[in-house]
Amino acid sequence: MTVEQPDLAEHYSELAAEYDEHWVYGPEYIPWMSARIAEALSLSSADRIADIGSGTGLFAREVARIVHPDQPILCVDPSEAMLRQLSTPSSPGLTPILASAEDIAEERTRLPYEALDAVWLKESVHHVTDPGATLRGLAQRLVPDGRLLVVMLPATIQYPLFRAALERFEELQPDPADVVGHMEHAGLQARLFYVEHELRLDRDKYIAMVRARYMSLLSTFSDSEIKKGIDEMRATHPEPVLVFPDRFAFVLGVRQGGKR
Ligand SMILES: C[S@@+](CC[C@H](N)C(=O)[O-])C[C@H]1O[C@@H](n2cnc3c(N)ncnc32)[C@H](O)[C@@H]1O
Repeated sequence: MTVEQPDLAEHYSELAAEYDEHWVYGPEYIPWMSARIAEALSLSSADRIADIGSGTGLFAREVARIVHPDQPILCVDPSEAMLRQLSTPSSPGLTPILASAEDIAEERTRLPYEALDAVWLKESVHHVTDPGATLRGLAQRLVPDGRLLVVMLPATIQYPLFRAALERFEELQPDPADVVGHMEHAGLQARLFYVEHELRLDRDKYIAMVRARYMSLLSTFSDSEIKKGIDEMRATHPEPVLVFPDRFAFVLGVRQGGKR
């Protein structure tokens, strides 16, 4: 199987135990996002579903609660530490698969289902080395009329981060329009749309999340750079509650019937 870059593997390994806490921005965030995923993929209980780069499975767990799939959702992730969190609390509706998106795309890892009806990647496509090739391989795992959804941050974000972090984000973040192109090359009918959610976060909680490097982007900064960045955030955002839009690009591809 593909080995992750050591620093990335280490990043998620260190974050795993606290990951859900970091992402529970507020009680409504996970149900809201999971409902958008279920809706975009038109999920039904008969679908064989995979969440690629599932992390701790916090969205898959909620999708399973909404859809009640007849067969478990496959939670695929190369980080053992992240997958270990799947069982806390125990989730019979989820099956962990230790593999990367590339392993599935190139069939190095066999899945328990012969083909998939619906697949999503939420905030994991930026970790894939060759997204064109990997999305093509994933598209080939779909049944005719199967759906592939990439959920990602847009090319620019309005998070209350320090300036250098926002600039580095823009340098590193893949463009959702490129993902549309990759899906079309893979023979999918693709469309891009955005969903938005207003976040209201206690400033000190957000600063603690930044200090814990809740985004992998932040792991590219040294301790002293993070400290300087936090000082800048405190000066720029004196307000006790930070209010900002969390905007996501949804790229949905549908495999055309009969073209397998
Ligand atoms: C930002 S987290 C997102 C986790 C989850 N989808 C969510 O939205 O909470 C990124 C996840 O991608 C995983 N990842 C890293 N490299 C990957 C790869 N090549 N293929 C699939 N997943 C990968 C990481 O282990 C991590 O769990």
